[in-house]
Amino acid sequence: MKRPDPDPLGYDVDESAVRFSNYFHVLRELVHLGCGWLALEPRLEVKYALGDHLHDDARTVTKVKRRLYELRTPSDYPGAPADELASLLDRATGATSASDYLGIAYGNLKPRLIAALRMHLAGLDPVVDEPSLRLLTQMLHRQERHVAELPAQSSEAVDGEDLGALPVRLREVRALRVMAPLVDPARDPYVEITSEGDPFLGRSLYVNGEENHVPIDPEEQRHFFHGLMDAELCAAELMARNSHEHPDMPWDFHVDMARQCWDEIRHAEVHDRLMAHELDCRWGDYPVGFAYFRSIYAYDLLGRLALFNGTSEQKAMWRHSHRRKVLIELGQERIARVFDYLLADEVPHVHNGKRWGTHLLGGDEAAYRSKLRELREGLDAAGVPIPTSPP
Ligand SMILES: [Fe+2]
Ligand SMILES: [Fe+2]
Repeated sequence: MKRPDPDPLGYDVDESAVRFSNYFHVLRELVHLGCGWLALEPRLEVKYALGDHLHDDARTVTKVKRRLYELRTPSDYPGAPADELASLLDRATGATSASDYLGIAYGNLKPRLIAALRMHLAGLDPVVDEPSLRLLTQMLHRQERHVAELPAQSSEAVDGEDLGALPVRLREVRALRVMAPLVDPARDPYVEITSEGDPFLGRSLYVNGEENHVPIDPEEQRHFFHGLMDAELCAAELMARNSHEHPDMPWDFHVDMARQCWDEIRHAEVHDRLMAHELDCRWGDYPVGFAYFRSIYAYDLLGRLALFNGTSEQKAMWRHSHRRKVLIELGQERIARVFDYLLADEVPHVHNGKRWGTHLLGGDEAAYRSKLRELREGLDAAGVPIPTSPP
């Protein structure tokens, strides 16, 4: 930690606010771009870490906005970054591949942010500005964890550079660029992708009611959890793209999407571990397909929220509860517990559909319910949009 000429008084309120404004820009852009690239990163372990980190960064933006408000600065948008920071952010925006983006985010932006946070901590007055001290300590810890978990192949030297001290252009706005629409999510090369996915997985696994079949023998559980793991990754990727493709939505929307993205990533990790420890199979043992992902991604944001969160996840709650009950009766407690946690996480995911679907309809809950009814009419018994229905 170094600040060549420490000021015993620390930063004044305006200097402190400018610093937090610069952190806001770096973190907001990391969330925006991380959400854009998540689906295009093929490596499972990297996808896991990225989903976790973008959720951390989204929550941190919320805290930084709060601190800006406390420091008498417009917290919704604290002015645009100066040329020097804007050109750093432009480099990240101009990334041409997921690995190119990760190199810039983890080899340049995050190390620069860490350097600025350290300087800020070293220079502030820990008593008069204790709220900043607490927040900066947490931010520094998180960013250090991120660069340790996803080390860049080459890090650029940031010694002595302080992006926190760069000026902010009040009343100007930096536009966020949205990437080209996604074609398909990326998977590790050892995962086979086919148009029909795993042919072992029958429709009876995904319908609600009496016809539902709970996978109980080891062979069908292997296929089922493998398919479910891919569905979780697709769900994380869909939420991330929802955020990335709609930068003008309120900030809380992005936090909700980032949280759900992380939840779905964690669900994939749970199934990954369950397959390895309980079922003697591995990710990549069976083919996966993107037909369902494509059918939902083809809709606009309202359609995605109504069909995926408001319908698919809502119906999955019944199946998770049913699967749990059947497996407990069979003495398969460990697998039953997984469904109990999936069920718990599904509640806020369904709520995300209602909350933001209603927002898109001007706050009219009845309009959201009628949109749900209309879109559900175009689904088959397993909740898949019938291909002839318009997207
Ligand atoms: Fe999930
Ligand atoms: Fe979910």
